[in-house]
Amino acid sequence: MTAQIIDGKAISQSIRTQLKHKVSARKTAGQRIPSLTVILVGADPASQIYVENKRRACEEVGFISRSYDLPSDTSEADLLTLIDTCNDDVSIDGILVQLPLPEHIEESKVIERIRPDKDVDGFHPYNVGRLAQRIPVLRSCTPMGIMTLIKSTGVDTYGLDAVIVGASNIVGRPMTLELLLAGCTTTTCHRFTRNLEDKVKQADLVIVAVGKPGFIPGSWIKPGAIVIDVGINRQKDGKLVGDVAFESAQQHAAWITPVPGGVGPMTIASLLENTLYAAEEYHD
Ligand code: GUN
Repeated sequence: MTAQIIDGKAISQSIRTQLKHKVSARKTAGQRIPSLTVILVGADPASQIYVENKRRACEEVGFISRSYDLPSDTSEADLLTLIDTCNDDVSIDGILVQLPLPEHIEESKVIERIRPDKDVDGFHPYNVGRLAQRIPVLRSCTPMGIMTLIKSTGVDTYGLDAVIVGASNIVGRPMTLELLLAGCTTTTCHRFTRNLEDKVKQADLVIVAVGKPGFIPGSWIKPGAIVIDVGINRQKDGKLVGDVAFESAQQHAAWITPVPGGVGPMTIASLLENTLYAAEEYHD
């Protein structure tokens, strides 16, 4: 079996085109243009690229994009004050603070300071709690984008055995909640998990987000499984690779996401969808 590729680049582009039309329709109807404010603290090169991509995507669909690039020694108090200002600014629909933050800033304090109706990352405990209670509103972007990818395969998720490898707040945990909502039986694996191989081998759906190149060998993939690779790792030769050994996994899976061009572009598409959602549902 050779797996079919789930083309995140194409799917995200089609979402962006739809959003562009919706923004034009809002303009024609004299409605406000959705607006996203992106805050970056420090000069982490990967974060700088992610943030630049988010800003560019915003502009491409016609949103208003505002940016703050703050020095790495910005105090927690100053960052919280900026968030308060953005919270109170009625022209801003979404606020995104790029993670990770410098060590002297407590991430949970920052996330909880963003008003839940402007939390377009979907990281606020209110928004994660809504998802946990099966009444999602603003959903965490990477898991939301992954659900769009899974839906695009046409495979019915009800009753699937899903294994999530990685239990971070950004991907693994909200991913588990999304898959539960989609009717999967979920197993969330992490550094203390025993017999990871056995768990992955019985999974109909495998989602890997650990940030280790080739962490999951292709031989672990159950024939006919769906494989979603969240990892983006740069090799010494400059090539980007995922957390799954792609070539061999492709011989077992029915569907697989490539790296790059799989999950990555979907995170941004979901962020844009959330920003429009915040404008329409909360701020119009
Ligand atoms: N760092 C890695 N992924 C993300 C994300 O989706 N949002 C934010 N704000 N920071 C991140």
